[in-house]
Order: sequence, then structure tokens, then C-alpha cells
Amino acid sequence: MSIHQNRKDEHVELAEKLYGSHPLTDFEAMTFVHHSFPNMNVSDVDLRTHFATFDLELPFYINGMTGGSDKTATINRYLALVAKETGLAMASGSVSAAIKHPEVAESFAVIRRTNPKGVIFANLGAEHSVENGKRAVDLLQADALQLHVNAPQELVMPDGEGERSFTNWLSQIQKMVEQVGVPVIVKEVGFGMSRETIQQLMRIGVKTIDVSGRGGTNFVAIENSRRTKQEFSFAENWGQSTAVSLIESAPFQNQVEILASGGIKTPIDMVKALSLGARACGLSGHFLHLVQTLGVEKTIAEVEQWRQTLQTLMTLLGAKKIADLQKNDIILREPIKGWCEARRID
Ligand code: FNR
Repeated sequence: MSIHQNRKDEHVELAEKLYGSHPLTDFEAMTFVHHSFPNMNVSDVDLRTHFATFDLELPFYINGMTGGSDKTATINRYLALVAKETGLAMASGSVSAAIKHPEVAESFAVIRRTNPKGVIFANLGAEHSVENGKRAVDLLQADALQLHVNAPQELVMPDGEGERSFTNWLSQIQKMVEQVGVPVIVKEVGFGMSRETIQQLMRIGVKTIDVSGRGGTNFVAIENSRRTKQEFSFAENWGQSTAVSLIESAPFQNQVEILASGGIKTPIDMVKALSLGARACGLSGHFLHLVQTLGVEKTIAEVEQWRQTLQTLMTLLGAKKIADLQKNDIILREPIKGWCEARRID
């Protein structure tokens, strides 16, 4: 097995080993104020959402994870089966592996073969050329392209594996947005975003952004535990939580579509993220955990349960549609409160 295939398998193994080990998402620092008159019925709830030109039945999706080895091909097939049965959109992991090593292309193509009619996003790093973007989209017959920005992860990866130059990301993303021919979603990988980052992306024409914050899968912890000397434990708490990142994005939510991911596991996490202005929620680590521990059928049943729980929660909150959730009264406690004060956010 090549170093590259081994790395993909290690990511999956370590994500599962470290699953749930991150103590805080900041969603626990958010409380809804209960009001006694919902003034609506459960049957009034409409869970549909819209982003990156897609109309989706549910406000959550399977976010970018894997591909590039035999083991990850199987995981992609399981995830694609869940997506097919539930109608969820699904992203692949970085297709860069297949561009460098065409022999692993099948571990990505399996997603489209399993789910011919589904909404599928291909995924690549921000440094890639438009030509590579088109190849990634072709391989999956993808409906959109996710571009990930992951500087902390690259820097913790050993010399020879991790990227060391970061000067062309914005210009490459701009070219991709202008030329790749499908909608582009720029995403973090669990370190969150600041309002400055969001403004930089808006200036180069990005229309859809997944803030992917701290609180779930932690790629500094994952890469650090792949090293013999674990030099980077100081950085394991790096970045903004998903809740804080969404608050940072608030001033721009009428100009750019914001998606939430990072540490989202339950319908209550989803409702909190949607209340902070996200159009939809991406789940990675939790879906990986579910398909590996419960299998495909029970994961599908779990998604159906989430649909019902979301309807219940939205009724309780008097929200007929996703956008109504933003009208909720929410109490924000520490550490979110202190962040807002320090950044002068009302
Ligand atoms: C990821 N993630 C990821 N993101 C990306 O854009 N490209 C990728 O190739 C990968 N690879 C990957 C592998 C594995 C095993 C996991 C669990 C995750 C990051 C992912 O999309 C997401 O941003 C973070 O994992 C945070 O969300 P969760 O896992 O806390 O829901």
C-alpha cells in the first residue's frame, strides 16, 4: 500500500478513535428561550433548504471525507447508499488522491455509481488548478465542487506530506469560481472562519461558504498523533468553534450562503446552527462513526429519526421554515459571550 493510501486509512481510523474526544462545541453555551405558544402545527414544518443552486429536502448533508484506498472505497459506498436512500447530498473526500494516482479513481467514482441521481459534491484543496477541478468534477459527475482550506492541518503534516506555501490559495479559488463550470463551495476542515476570511472569499466571488469550525473532528490532533514526536499538541485547540464562526458570518448572510459544519451530531446542534444563520449543516465524523458502528440500514433509520426530531424542535420553536429559526431568542453564554465582546459583535 502506498504512503498516500495509508494516510487516507489512518485519517479514518484516527477520526473514529478520537471521535467524541473534543470536549466542547460551544453549542452547549447556547440556550433557546422557551415561549409557550408555538402558534403552528407539526404538519406546518417545511425542512427544505436551498444553497449552491440546489433545492434539498433536508437541511443537513454528508460532508467531505474520504476516498483514495480500498477501505475508504467501501466507506464511500456505504455513505453513498445512505445518501441515496435518504435524499441527502454528499461530498467526497479530496479527489487530489485520484488526480495524482489514477489507480485509486474508483474509490471516488463509486459514489456516483452507487447514487446515480443524487446531489454529489467533489472535493479538492484550494491550491488546485481549474483543470484539476474539472477532472474532479468529471470523475464524480459532480454537481458542485468543494474547495477546502486547511492551513493548520497542512502545517502539522510532516515535511514532504504537508503544504508549506500558501500564497496562491485566494487567486486559485477565484479562477476556479470563474471557470470550473459548477457551483463552488469553499470550506474549512474544522478550524472555523473569521469575518475577515469570509470577506476575502466574498471579494473573489465565492457565493457559498462552509465555516466548518472547531468542536468535532480535529485535524491537528489527527495529524499530531500520526507523528512519532507529538510536537503539535499545543495547537490542538486551534481555531473558532462552529457557533462562533457562524456569529462571525452574521453580517454577510444576506450576501453569501453560509453552511455549518464541525461537531454537529444531533438535531439540537443542527437547529442551533440553523438559528445562527446556516442554510444547512454538514456532518462528517458522526456519519463516519454511524456507518462504521451501526451499518447502513441503522444509519438510514437514524436519518429518518432526525427528520422527525427536527420537525418537533421547529414546532417547539414556532419555526415553520428554516429561515424562521433565525427569529429565535437565544441566550449566549461564555465562551461565546466573551468572544462577541472582544470582537465587538452585538
Ligand atoms: C475530513 N474532512 C475533510 N474535508 C475536506 O474538505 N476534504 C477532505 O478530504 C476531508 N477529509 C476528511 C477525512 C475524515 C476521516 C474526516 C472525519 C473529515 C473534514 C470534514 O469535511 C469537516 O470539515 C470536519 O471533519 C469537521 O466536521 P465534523 O467531522 O466534526 O462533522
